[in-house]
Amino acid sequence: MHDPFSAVRRYDPRAGTLSGAVPAERRLRELAGVFADDKAFAAACAAGNPLVYTVASAEPADGAGDLHYGIGTLYPGRVGAEFFQTKGHLHAMRDAAETYIGLRGKGLMLLEDERTGACTAQPLEANGIVYVPGFVAHRTVNTGNEPLVYLGVYPARAGHDYGTIAEKNFKQVVVERNGRVEVLARADVLASLR
Ligand SMILES: [Fe+2]
Repeated sequence: MHDPFSAVRRYDPRAGTLSGAVPAERRLRELAGVFADDKAFAAACAAGNPLVYTVASAEPADGAGDLHYGIGTLYPGRVGAEFFQTKGHLHAMRDAAETYIGLRGKGLMLLEDERTGACTAQPLEANGIVYVPGFVAHRTVNTGNEPLVYLGVYPARAGHDYGTIAEKNFKQVVVERNGRVEVLARADVLASLR
């Protein structure tokens, strides 16, 4: 029988590892459609298809009141001017919230409420916490020079909906311009690339 009291894990905030978990890897080619600059994306894939992020998850139990959690490690890098970022998702169970706890590095979380369209970019960094309410799409962006490592805790039954984001993408894009981090409207970035 499953013993919840034996479910102690160890994590390493520098390496982004979690004991007993094999990290899932996301390489650049798997992020087709995420970045605004198609040409820069194709060039970066051709140049070596780098590892963009890993997620090491723990799923201790699957009951209605249970929690799952995972450590994400998002590597530093850019595609054109746009910083490395995760695919981003909504939860299949739309009202499921999530808490992100920053462990290492510096970045932003793009948040977008699918009911209102309201969007924001909130800092995610070591010693910071971002609360993601239900119905809010979330994507992590590494704006620093070292891995961005964070712990996400969410209802066991939240599930992941990547399809809605793959269709619509986020309204905001995070780029480096003149040595500064800027959050721009995707529509403006796409217009400037034409
Ligand atoms: Fe999530």
